[in-house]
Amino acid sequence: MGTPATPGSAADTLRLQVNGQAHDVPAAPGTALLHVLRNDLELNGPKYGCGLGECGACTVLIDGVAARSCVIPVRAAVGREVTTLEGLGSRQCPGPTQQAFIDCQAAQCGYCLNGMIMTVEALLRRNPDPSEQELRNELHHNLCRCGTHVEILQAALRAARLRAQGVRP
Ligand code: FES
Ligand code: FES
Repeated sequence: MGTPATPGSAADTLRLQVNGQAHDVPAAPGTALLHVLRNDLELNGPKYGCGLGECGACTVLIDGVAARSCVIPVRAAVGREVTTLEGLGSRQCPGPTQQAFIDCQAAQCGYCLNGMIMTVEALLRRNPDPSEQELRNELHHNLCRCGTHVEILQAALRAARLRAQGVRP
């Protein structure tokens, strides 16, 4: 299912670079990046939670930096590298941050996990050896309605250890 154009705005063909691949996508430039990723590219790692930039469920990396794709217009991603959860690894070969969350079974419903994993990934890319407090600070604005925060923090700490050990997808 393609993303419907915003009423009153014409769809353009936009070239996006996502998970290392170029995609030409017809979309109104003001459409939220999240909708294009999910509806046009069928990348369902990023989730729709609040749609207001407040919960973190939709987090992706743009040029390696965590970004809330529900409030970023797709035009802002043109010419930049977008990475989604799918770009960190695969089911058969998870990346170290994904593996850490699997190892720690850090989920109940799992809806928040995309945002947690992508936020931890972004931090570890710029700071491979964060303190527990730095991890807490980074995750502070990601919401988990299930209250799985303790396990998520353990997973974040394990992700740092796995990366330090050189685990790669
Ligand atoms: S869905 Fe984007 S921050 Fe909540
Ligand atoms: S595990 Fe359910 S919202 Fe976090």
